Amino acid sequence: MDQPMRMKNNGQISIVLNSQKRSSVKDTLRHDSVPQSLPQEHVALKEIEEELGSLVGMEEMKKMVKEIYAWIYVNKKRETMGLKAGKQALHMMFKGNPGTGKTTVARIIGKLFLKMNVLSKGHLIEAERADLVGEYIGHTAQKTRDLVKKALGGILFIDEAYSLGRGGEKDFGKEAIDTLVKHMEDKQHEFILILAGYSREMEHFLTLNPGLQSRFPLVFHFPDYSVDQLMEIGRRMLEEKEYLLSHDAERKIREHLHTAKNTLSPMAFSNGRYVRNVLEKSIRAQAMRLLMENCFDRHDLLTIRSNDLMFNRGSSE
Ligand SMILES: Nc1ncnc2c1ncn2[C@@H]1O[C@H](COP(=O)(O)OP(=O)(O)O)[C@@H](O)[C@H]1O
Ligand SMILES: [Mg+2]
Repeated sequence: MDQPMRMKNNGQISIVLNSQKRSSVKDTLRHDSVPQSLPQEHVALKEIEEELGSLVGMEEMKKMVKEIYAWIYVNKKRETMGLKAGKQALHMMFKGNPGTGKTTVARIIGKLFLKMNVLSKGHLIEAERADLVGEYIGHTAQKTRDLVKKALGGILFIDEAYSLGRGGEKDFGKEAIDTLVKHMEDKQHEFILILAGYSREMEHFLTLNPGLQSRFPLVFHFPDYSVDQLMEIGRRMLEEKEYLLSHDAERKIREHLHTAKNTLSPMAFSNGRYVRNVLEKSIRAQAMRLLMENCFDRHDLLTIRSNDLMFNRGSSE
């Protein structure tokens, strides 16, 4: 991955985000030759960049995370100088199809904000409509309040948030939205709300409540992965587990991903999760084959062959 702001020098990683010596940001981005010692306070960014580096693609999101870091950091500096510091809310909207890394990134952002003292715990509470919406009047406000309470100090991540706006005026989903909006104001700096969902549905959701759009200043797009990116995601997952694909298996997966991407609807094809599921099933199939063949040498144990591959038939999962 291209990380122009970092450089290695004698095993030390430096960040020149706040360098005063450079003449312009552009210069620094192009010439990463002036080693700067890493100010202690940028360790958080370094660690998060390393974690983000293990994710395939997502260039826009990686850039945004850096920008948020810089923005928070500079605001703290301004505060110490008695200058006005923007108190912008950090609530976010993640738009993208299933399996494009939204939950993964939300977790990483929680960690970053913990390291930056923006959040006191940095944990992630994942919720969906059923966790917020109750069955009788007053129940929804109570459930939503309880959830916000659990998320204090961390991130409340609401998946398929647009489903809260579905039922219209009479639906308790509206009550959940109103309660959330109220807590976002009251506990502005105690938790971060991330609403996630498909792009189009989220756009529609925002139009339902005129106050919503401005409350989510940070919008991240999570595009679908190309076949090459999906292959790379798979390769990293296998590497992590110490497995390899035979040439045949690699070719077969690639062909299968092409077909799956083209035949399943964009909302049904679950990107990274799809790859993970295929690989996990295939690993179990390989174990079964090895058992039957009674072959356990190192190469056998490492290699997933084409006839081990277990594809998901007709479903996105
Ligand atoms: N860019 C990526 N690089 C590596 N793995 C990824 C990437 N995006 C998604 N994954 C993997 O795909 C799976 C689904 O990701 P997840 O964050 O749960 O997606 P979402 O919340 O958008 O449905 C996880 O196993 C995750 O590790
Ligand atoms: Mg998710």
